[in-house]
Amino acid sequence: MANNFSCIVLMFLLLVSSSYAIPNSQVNVICGQTKNPLFCSTLLNSQPNADLKTLTQYTLNVARANITNTIKLINVLIAENANKPDAKTHYSSCLDHFDEDEGALGDLEYTEELFKNGDYQGVGVSASSIEDDVEDCISGESPSDPPYHDTSTLPQYASVVELVAQIIIILSKNLGH
Ligand SMILES: *[C@@H]1O[C@H](CO)[C@@H](O)[C@H](O)[C@H]1NC(C)=O
Repeated sequence: MANNFSCIVLMFLLLVSSSYAIPNSQVNVICGQTKNPLFCSTLLNSQPNADLKTLTQYTLNVARANITNTIKLINVLIAENANKPDAKTHYSSCLDHFDEDEGALGDLEYTEELFKNGDYQGVGVSASSIEDDVEDCISGESPSDPPYHDTSTLPQYASVVELVAQIIIILSKNLGH
C-alpha cells in the first residue's frame, strides 16, 4: 500500500515535471543573469508550460506592449509640458528613441522578424539596441549631455522595457545552442 502510494506520487511528479518544457532550474539560471532576477522569474514563470521558443515569443509580445505603453506615456508628457522647454526637449528626444522609425519599436519589429527567421544571434544583437534606445532616452546620447531630472513615471516604464529586452537577449543565447 505504502509502496503503491509512493509509486503514484513518483509518477505524478514525473508527469508534472515533464510538462514543464523548460525546467525551473533553467529559468533560475537565465534570470540570475539579469539585473532583476525576481522580475524575470515572475515574467517567465507566468508561462509554466512553455518551451524556450514560446517563452521568447511571449517575452517579445510583452516588450511590444511595454514599448507601446511607454510611447503613449511620452506623448502625454509632451502635451503636458508644452510650456516647459527643458522637459519638452527631453520627452521629444525620448519619443525619437522609442518610436517606430529609429527607436525601440522599430528595433523590436526587426527583432521579431529575426526571431521568425530563426536568426537567434541576430535577435540578441537587435534586442541590445532596444537597451541602447532606452539608455539614450534616460541618460542622453552622449556622456556630456546634461542629465534631465525626470520626476514622471517614464523612468520606471523605461526600466521595464530595458529589463524585458535583457531577458530577450539571454533567452536568445539559450536558443542559439
Ligand atoms: C508591461 O507589459 C505587461 C504585459 O502586457 C503588463 O502586465 C505590464 O503592466 C506592462 N508594464 C508597463 C510599465 O507597461
